[in-house]
Order: sequence, then structure tokens, then C-alpha cells
Amino acid sequence: MPLSRRQVLATAAVATVGIAVGGCDRQPGRGRVGPSSPAVQATEARRRRAGAPVRQVALTAAPVTLELAGRPIATWAYNGNVPGPVVRVRAGEVLRARLDNRLPEATTIHWHGVALRNDMDGVPEVTQAPVQPGGHFTYEFTVPAPGTYFFHPHVGLQLDRGLYAALVVEDPDEPGRYDGEAVVVLDDWTDGLGPSPAAIMASLQRSGGMSMDDMMRGMTAAGGQLGGAGGEVNYPRYLLNGRPPEDPATLAARPGQRLRLRLINAAADTAFRVAVGGHRLQVTHSDGYPLDPVTVDALLMGMGERYDLLVDLHEGVFPLVAVAEGKRGQARGLLRAGRGTPPPARARPTELDGRLLDPARLRADPAVALGSRSPDRTHRLTLSGGMGEFRWTINGRTFDPDRPLPLRAGERTRLVFENPSMMFHPMHLHGHTFAVQHPTGAGPRKDTVIVAPMQRLAVDLDADNPGQWVVHCHNLYHMEAGMMTSLAYLA
Ligand code: C2O
Ligand code: CU
Repeated sequence: MPLSRRQVLATAAVATVGIAVGGCDRQPGRGRVGPSSPAVQATEARRRRAGAPVRQVALTAAPVTLELAGRPIATWAYNGNVPGPVVRVRAGEVLRARLDNRLPEATTIHWHGVALRNDMDGVPEVTQAPVQPGGHFTYEFTVPAPGTYFFHPHVGLQLDRGLYAALVVEDPDEPGRYDGEAVVVLDDWTDGLGPSPAAIMASLQRSGGMSMDDMMRGMTAAGGQLGGAGGEVNYPRYLLNGRPPEDPATLAARPGQRLRLRLINAAADTAFRVAVGGHRLQVTHSDGYPLDPVTVDALLMGMGERYDLLVDLHEGVFPLVAVAEGKRGQARGLLRAGRGTPPPARARPTELDGRLLDPARLRADPAVALGSRSPDRTHRLTLSGGMGEFRWTINGRTFDPDRPLPLRAGERTRLVFENPSMMFHPMHLHGHTFAVQHPTGAGPRKDTVIVAPMQRLAVDLDADNPGQWVVHCHNLYHMEAGMMTSLAYLA
């Protein structure tokens, strides 16, 4: 009997009521605001509206066998599917998500991009004790801002299996200038088709990352916005909504409709160049926050980034393509609007080579701009590594939870990323949405931003969410090799 990726573990559908177990097995250093401190609780209390609806979801992380590329594939997933179930909630509501861990390893869930209470952030040894095999944990927090987010484990290399899913936070005041929407999750896939994530890590460590040859090859292929190699790992497949290019997902709409696409890059080591054949893309949101919209033919997104697009559909069946930048292969889906013949599997929309979104031209919608203010505190983060040794560092160190970067509540804080390495790093901050600072002025609000080789990029944030928050590269292998630090609110 063929196993379906839609097969759901029966138990997972049972909604459960749980009690949030706060606390952490590790005490933050003296003078720091801990994850379950009164300051964190007070911040949550201010966010919580009386009578706010509670959305309950049950998520089971477990081994599963699903069919991919015509073969049974053993992997790990939430509720038996890759991606896991789309979680939808409205800004201002409370999300109560019970995680049951049926994996053979400890795990957590991190709600990527959400400015939530610190003790629900899912970072082992920083905000909570990891959930042991057979154990469970209930995440419960007020969801503050609308937008496109996702969730994934924050333990080891688990994200490079099938453990990821979209989190859509609806806007109670949605202007609704579109007719329908679709979630599009991109991933680079190895489980069951190539080496395991652990084997990939071991081989990167053996070879010290990429050889000079690989690097040069990658550079010529990627070049452009990434300013260097596309990534270290060539994956056997790239997936769009869990489907390989030869068995694409179809997003159905009607001709003339305006479709909102919520793009999420859940890959471990792959940036994607995205285009829709025969269409232009109006880019409306970055990492959940509204932009001054810009219209382009294609855009490039790093791991952990999200973009929302509006597409005005013509009649026909069109390829939605996400090319693995600097690598061989692509993820692919179909956009069907009325009648038409599907494009051939290898079709490469010319839009991919058209006008590419220039991140330096993005501006926040004035409604969400941070407002100009000179920083009270600046931290420089130098991103290096990969030279003959697969060790990636920030300011010369691999992650050490006992050496955080300090800040104080109320401060406008500037992080200056400097990247003297040969790789791009999509840098992600937990618990805050910063404002990217362009030389020409304030750019978009984001929580994950590509820092290209030799680039220096500043981001500003308001320290309004007390606790201990990690900052790291969202290349999973770089993060696992040490490229992470933390911001510690001082008491
Ligand atoms: Cu999606 Cu700390 O990451
Ligand atoms: Cu990196």
C-alpha cells in the first residue's frame, strides 16, 4: 500500500489542553533577565488582551515514511506530513501548541520571526530545557504581529529533515487587496535520497567546507547578490510544499484573480531564486512586515527569509520556479488559472533572468517603520570561518551562552554585521524584527537578512522584548558549526 505524505498520525489530531511549563534548566548569568523572569511575564501580560481567543494545535514530531520522487522515504515530520500542518492564528490571539516528541532525540519548537515571550522561544539551554523523547511541552504565547512565519526545531540538524511548517498570522485589519492566498514552502531535501544530515556535517568537517574549486564554481554560478558561492551542499532534490519538481504541487486560482503568495525558505543550505512564468511579482512583505511594494520579475531569498507577493493571474498553467542559487536543480510548482497545458518539467521562465529584487531598494511601509533615532548601543558582529576548517564564528568564537552581547530594555540597539568570509550568511535574530539600515536610509523590517561576502550591514532594533535571544546564521550547518551568539537583556 503506497504511503501518502498526507497520511496523518491519528493521535496528532487530538487537541489537547496542557499547562505551559515555564522555566529553564540553566540559570542565565547574574544580572541578566532570565526567560521566566518577572520582566518577561510582565511583557506578556501587557500583550495579552482580556478574552483573547486561544488557538489550540497539537503537533507530534515523529519518524514517518512518506513517498517522494516515487520512493518510500524515511524522515522526521510534524503530524506525518512534509511540510507539517499550516498553523493559522490571528494577531492578538493566543497560540497554545502542544508538542509531543516521539523522535529518538530531544527536540524543541522555535517560532521563527515571532516576537513572543522569551520562555516560549524554543532554544535549548537558553530559553528552555529540550523536550526529551517521549516527553511533551506546551508552548503558549500571545501572537503580537500579523505576517508569514514558520516553525522548526532548534536542536542539532533536525531542520534538515522534514520538521518545518508555516505559521500564518492573519491581520484583523487586513486591507485584503487580493482574492486568494497560498503558502509556498521551499526546502532542500536529502533524507532517503542522499546522505543524512549527520553525514553531510561529517563530510563538511572532514573537507573543511568547500574546496577552492567548488568555491570558484559556485561563485561563477551564483555571483550576483550572494556575491559568492551558493552554499556548500548539493541536494538530490529541492521541494516546493513537500513535492519534488517531477511531481509538482498545483496551486489553483481563477484567471484575473490577484493571488497572495506567502513564500518561506525552510532550506538548510540553499538560497532560492523565485519567479512565476509569464507574470510579474509585486513584493508586499518581507519577513511578515509590510513594504512599500515593488514590482520585479524575480527575487532571491536566503534560508529563514519570507516574502509575500501579489500576482495578477493570466489564464493558463504557469510554472512557479525556485532555482537553487549557485547549485544544480530547482523546486517547482504549478499555478493553474483556468484552462491551459502544463509547461514542460524543465521549463525555465525567462523572468528568472529579468529584473531581480534589489534588497537595497526595499523600504518599510511607513506604518511599520521603526522611526529614526540614533542608537544607544552598537554591537559589531564579525562573521568568519570556512577557511580550511568547518568552524564558523561570530567575533572569533563559536557559540558560548555565557558570553552574550548585553543590552538594556528601552535601548535602540544597532547590530553591525561584517562578513569577511567567502560565504553569504542569512543572519537571523530571535524575538525582534529589526530595521535594515541602508546607506541611503532605513530599509525594510526583517528578522533574517542576507549578509554577502565583504558586505557590512547594520540593523537597528528597539529592545522591547526582555530575555535572552540568540542571533545566528540560518545556514543550519554554519549554525551547528558555531555561528551563533546571543543578546542578553541586563536586569
Ligand atoms: Cu529559524 Cu534560530 O531560527
Ligand atoms: Cu552562515
